[in-house]
Amino acid sequence: DTGHFTFDPGFGATASTKSAITYIDGDQGVLLYRGYPIEQLAEKSSFLEVAYLLLHGELPKKDEFAAFEHQITHHTMMHESLKNFFQGFHHDAHPMAMLAAAVASLSAFYHDDLNVDDPEDRKLAAIRLIAKMPTIAAACYRYSIGWPFRYPRNNLEYVSRFLHMMFEVPSEPLQLNPVAAKALDLLFILHADHEQNASTSTVRLVGSTGANPYASIAAGITALWGPAHGGANEAVLKMLEEIGTPDQVEKAVLRAKDKNDNFRLMGFGHRVYKNFDPRAKIIREMTHKVLGELGVNDPLLEVAVKLEEAALKDDYFVERKLYPNVDFYSGIIYKALNIPTEMFTVMFAIARTAGWIAHWIEQHETPGSRIGRPRQLYVGSGVRDYVPADKR
Ligand code: SDX
Repeated sequence: DTGHFTFDPGFGATASTKSAITYIDGDQGVLLYRGYPIEQLAEKSSFLEVAYLLLHGELPKKDEFAAFEHQITHHTMMHESLKNFFQGFHHDAHPMAMLAAAVASLSAFYHDDLNVDDPEDRKLAAIRLIAKMPTIAAACYRYSIGWPFRYPRNNLEYVSRFLHMMFEVPSEPLQLNPVAAKALDLLFILHADHEQNASTSTVRLVGSTGANPYASIAAGITALWGPAHGGANEAVLKMLEEIGTPDQVEKAVLRAKDKNDNFRLMGFGHRVYKNFDPRAKIIREMTHKVLGELGVNDPLLEVAVKLEEAALKDDYFVERKLYPNVDFYSGIIYKALNIPTEMFTVMFAIARTAGWIAHWIEQHETPGSRIGRPRQLYVGSGVRDYVPADKR
């Protein structure tokens, strides 16, 4: 404590805001959205209903949900000029790079909802973001494989519409598998919000400057991309592929414990959960079920199960309370749904948009919010005189 402020690297002991959206008890492994346990929402709700809940604080009545879904559906299209924007990217650009840039560009397309002090503007921006995110995400994928973009089919519901935009080709009309749609909807529910994680805190920090909603959410997307955060789902799959077979698991655990080795068990550990991440529990159960129902036999699932078993009985992981997190099993499900590895973090971003925008709105609805401005402990040189170039 400097007397003026507290040194707290990584913000492990600092609450940056009050919030009424999401509650986590990291010791008990509890996660509530607006008071509702994640297990109940996973079983009974839908992603769009959860998005409404996060934004409005209450579950929607039938007519409220119908109106919300109607509004979302009305805004699913991407501006035709935004399509041209994609043409500037190299064909093998990472989809997260394209997603961040395309979402930031929305503030160049929609000028009518940028007054952050107007509740109606904020609401419209929220609807637009939730509605357009799957359209833009699918465009990122199709651009990367050289396929023409698909228009959103507004007679479908949110997740099926996204799967259509991803996978439909003109010659073979896509047969949507209800198991796939249900699985993706469930993953979206589980990823929708998680209080002041790095990307949400980023959205709030950018939002605190008065930046427009698209700029704020684009910043969240770039924060999510890192492998310590949402990028972990992609990293987990690459790690499982690298491990390859169950007999290589012990070696991986040894490497993860070695402080001279940069290798970490991706999908393990969490700043807040010192117990099972309740989302990981749900996803693990669901992985077995979904793969079974889709008739997919993925040898990586066996590697993941063995890795979890080995880590959970290893002193290093037990002492540090390192458990599988939300990203550990999600990739195996995405893979079973034919979603390419590089799109995994994009999936996370689609879902988290609901949480980001709910936090951004809450921030603007809170009277007396002020700019986020952390302090530092200066460890550089004391004052000294400028030295001319020929004297250095
Ligand atoms: C998400 O914050 C959120 O809510 C995020 C999220 C959300 O929904 O928004 O839940 C989503 O980002 C999940 C996390 C995805 N990331 C990974 O799976 C990457 C691997 N995990 C680690 O990088 C790490 O555990 C973090 C980033 C998740 C948490 O970092 P912390 O809180 O700073 O923990 P730490 O680095 O202080 O770790 C404590 C100890 C250290 O050892 P010691 O120095 O005490 O000896 O545990 C070790 C760490 O080295 N450790 C690991 C490890 N994670 C932590 N050792 C091996 N493998 C790991 N995965």
